[in-house]
Amino acid sequence: MSVPSAALLSDAKALLNRLSGAVPDLQVGLRGVHAALPPLYPDERALLSPRAVSKRRAEFHAGRIAARDVLAALGIVDFPLLRLDNRAPLWPDAIKGSLSHTDDVACAIALRSDRPVGVDLERNAPLSAEVENAVSDAQERRAFSEHTSPARIVFSAKESVYKCISGQVGRVVDFSEVVIDPVTPDTFHARAKTDLSGRALPDQIVARGRVACSDLHILTYAQSAL
Ligand SMILES: CC(C)(COP(=O)(O)OP(=O)(O)OC[C@H]1O[C@@H](n2cnc3c(N)ncnc32)[C@H](O)[C@@H]1OP(=O)(O)O)[C@@H](O)C(=O)NCCC(=O)NCCS
Repeated sequence: MSVPSAALLSDAKALLNRLSGAVPDLQVGLRGVHAALPPLYPDERALLSPRAVSKRRAEFHAGRIAARDVLAALGIVDFPLLRLDNRAPLWPDAIKGSLSHTDDVACAIALRSDRPVGVDLERNAPLSAEVENAVSDAQERRAFSEHTSPARIVFSAKESVYKCISGQVGRVVDFSEVVIDPVTPDTFHARAKTDLSGRALPDQIVARGRVACSDLHILTYAQSAL
């Protein structure tokens, strides 16, 4: 069933507000991917490949404006959000932040911290069996079995974790290299299953995170413990 964009936006906003209420000093922002938006800075526009399709242009644009909103809330204006070679956004000194987009909503988070953060927003829908098995194991799925799509929660949590540790680990981390352990119904630890390029030993906590779910969305957040 198709859900109107306004309903998706207000649902995502409620989850982001829940997250900002739980994480001290975290600023959150969201923009509709199909909404009218202020223009990108030229240096941001230049990051888009000339071959980028309209969906990619729209999500990139909305993500950059959501990031601009959270930076403004932190007192930082006129800051084009460029990126590193690994595609991670290049935040101002002393700020850590992260972006995610669905087909309809782009969200950004940021705070003043030394520890990198990650965010991931997903539509709340089951994954195919093949993808489920690629991103999670049976024990992880059992741990979130009270939810409608346990594997997607694990998937989203790992994407948030990846976004917060990728710069420190310095390479792509496979879904099988990290395990998500629920701590409370809303929080989790991410542990290394392998040696992550010398940055984490097996069983070490690499990030601590939060989950917020509605019928429409899954929102996860992680902050590096490395
Ligand atoms: C990077 C990745 C997590 C992005 O997820 P996605 O579902 O494609 O897209 P999302 O909309 O949630 O997030 C995209 C945003 O992530 C950010 N991002 C991309 N690469 C990143 C990185 N290496 N580190 C931090 N943030 C990154 C960008 O801001 C990007 O948006 P932009 O290109 O418009 O700026 C995913 O593409 C990926 O490479 N995953 C493989 C590794 C992984 O997740 N391992 C899990 C085990 S820890």
